[in-house]
Amino acid sequence: MIQALKKLEEDARREVSSLSDSKALDGLRVKYLGRKGLFASLSSRISEVPPEARRQAGQEINRVKQLLEALFSEKEKTLIPHPRFSEKKIDVTMPGTFLPAGRLHPLSRVIAEVSRIFGRLGFSVVEGPEVETEHHNFEALNIPLDHPARDSFDTFYLENGRLLRSQTSTVQIRVMEKSRPPLKIIAPGKVYRPDATDATHSFMFHQIEGLMVDEGTSFSELKGVLLAFAKEFFGSRTKLRFRPHFFPFTEPSAEIDIFWESCGEWLEILGAGMVHPNVFRAVHIDPEKYTGFAFGMGVERLAMLKYGVSDIRNFFENDLRFLRQF
Ligand code: PHE
Repeated sequence: MIQALKKLEEDARREVSSLSDSKALDGLRVKYLGRKGLFASLSSRISEVPPEARRQAGQEINRVKQLLEALFSEKEKTLIPHPRFSEKKIDVTMPGTFLPAGRLHPLSRVIAEVSRIFGRLGFSVVEGPEVETEHHNFEALNIPLDHPARDSFDTFYLENGRLLRSQTSTVQIRVMEKSRPPLKIIAPGKVYRPDATDATHSFMFHQIEGLMVDEGTSFSELKGVLLAFAKEFFGSRTKLRFRPHFFPFTEPSAEIDIFWESCGEWLEILGAGMVHPNVFRAVHIDPEKYTGFAFGMGVERLAMLKYGVSDIRNFFENDLRFLRQF
């Protein structure tokens, strides 16, 4: 009997130690410790043991029983109990599943960067509608119906008498209709013109308008603000050149070119000037009391210069080989 118990103990130790999943451990537990298991059938034979050896056999039975129970519960702790994990091993060193991350369109990046720079200069970002009235796109900007300057800003007309704005200067009017100076805003957005598409023209493109109005706002402030912007956007060695120009809504007006190392030549980036008194009159701001400057820049132009893109159509064709470079 005692020998049989010893053998049972050895067998159990061997079988348990060679195991590696908890399902098999359960099976083994039944085999050894179940009601009809090996241990039960062996210990029931105590009655066959001669009376003088029974005491010792009884002790041995208790010892082996405790030992087996401890053996199984120890082993159980070393196995991962969840069947899903125990059936299928996981290799934690395998590369994970990658989700492709989106990114900003280069034009959105330029708009965000320009907004950030002007934000630091105290300008807030506002938006205006793309479908506009003739009044906001022309009359209030000092472009009467018979003015030849209408031609260059002519646009798409809708059946309800409205039009697609051809310049973000409309937002100057919308802001000044609602708020009184001091004003410092920029307004990014889409504009539309009946231009034939080529490498540098598109019927739809983006502009960022700027407007500052206060008592005593001067042309030198316009220069200072634009130079601060250009140096931050293109680099600290950037230079600006102001060329006299005509816009109906500013007087005097200028076209502004930049010179920076990577392009090595003067390139036009924006139009600007001092807000025309007639524009102030259209929004009932006293031109004797207030002065202001305005500017408008082309977002595609800025992006083409900054990133060295030679064809404006790249921005609108959704070719991922192009867009992934940003
Ligand atoms: N609206 C002008 C354009 O589209 C740019 C501009 C804005 C010029 C503000 C002067 C002042 O060309």
